[in-house]
Amino acid sequence: MKIAVLPGDGIGPEVTQQAVRVLRAVAAGRFTIDFEEFPVGGTAIRQFGLPFPEPTQKGCMAADAVLLGAVGGPEFDSLPRERKPETGLLQLRRALGGYANLRPAVAHPALAECSPLRPEVLRGADILFVRELLGGLYFGEPRGFKGGDSPESAYNTMTYSVAEIERVAHVAFRSAQKRRKKLASVDKANVLECSQLWRKVVTRLAGEYPEVTLEHVLVDSCAMRLVTAPSSFDVVVTENLFGDILTDEAAALTGSLGMLPSATVGGKVDLYEPIHGSAPDIAGKGIANPLGAIASAAMLLRHSARREDDARTIEAAISQVLEAGYRTADLKRGSGQQLVNTETMGDLVIKALAAGQLQPTHA
Ligand code: NAD
Ligand code: IPM
Ligand code: MN
Repeated sequence: MKIAVLPGDGIGPEVTQQAVRVLRAVAAGRFTIDFEEFPVGGTAIRQFGLPFPEPTQKGCMAADAVLLGAVGGPEFDSLPRERKPETGLLQLRRALGGYANLRPAVAHPALAECSPLRPEVLRGADILFVRELLGGLYFGEPRGFKGGDSPESAYNTMTYSVAEIERVAHVAFRSAQKRRKKLASVDKANVLECSQLWRKVVTRLAGEYPEVTLEHVLVDSCAMRLVTAPSSFDVVVTENLFGDILTDEAAALTGSLGMLPSATVGGKVDLYEPIHGSAPDIAGKGIANPLGAIASAAMLLRHSARREDDARTIEAAISQVLEAGYRTADLKRGSGQQLVNTETMGDLVIKALAAGQLQPTHA
């Protein structure tokens, strides 16, 4: 298969490199993956003056899947919207067409002490977020500033059509069917018309999935329940901005933002990216956690390559490395655990793929 690799900015290239190494190691001698790199975000702005230039667009559309690192950085924050790295990411998402962003957040037992939550609260937390990715405030028109050069006000539009809600809700119901058969639809229906429509459409579709138990949860209440009773959730479906915020919150269940992978499905070409950003505070130091990016590569094998076994092999290797006590700096360490950098973490995952078993650390 052909993968377009978009390392992006900050720690993006550092973590993506490890994900690519792991994919190469899994494929070695068994199947062929062609990787081709393209600039996106700030890296593309430097080269082309635009965050999602045409060669990148063409390369992505011609690929079987896109693997992205992260975009953004303080030096680009004051650029006009059409030249911001984040705008490039949104253009990429729109071009690829995937509307359902799957973000699994699993509290790995080996990382229990890395979470600020008490172990008894954390136990059993295993949530699949289905975040709507092409609608809502991110793309709604009209948007802008009012009042010329020194604006006096600004506005954005939240808008959802029935069709946009239906397509992402179907993905969520089908995901719940394959899991513990519980779906929480998260909205703000007590205030927002978009949420009232969202709730109505999701409720109607529930009739097609009688084995799935549906509940509606208000987003503020959901934010609290995520840290008080995370194991009460199975699949959570929500609109774009709520999903952005809740999934970073859910990262605290896993111990680090660097742990969370994602897959965006439903469009012409599927997109795989860790949920974290470019982490300017640690970029260039070689200490970023690559496991979210590596787990995104596993999701790529599962969804785009239909290689479930290989996806599981990578996920099992990640678990083994964590159980053996290896930790990047973002993961809190106790005694008997060893601090490793980005590259060594990649080495360890690759070793665990091959060996099937890692020796526990004696640090
Ligand atoms: P961030 O996710 O980059 O970082 C938040 C915190 O988490 C930082 O302390 C960072 O060091 C830490 N962190 C994140 N990923 C990590 C990893 N893999 N290993 C270890 N620590 C990790 O969010 P931010 O600082 O709010 O944003 C920085 C830039 O990234 C902004 O320009 C933002 O727009 C952009 N961003 C991009 C994406 C994306 O490309 N998908 C996602 C989020 C933010
Ligand atoms: C994410 C990021 C992006 C988003 C930004 C960088 C546009 O925060 O992927 O979660 O808000 O979708
Ligand atoms: Mn985000």
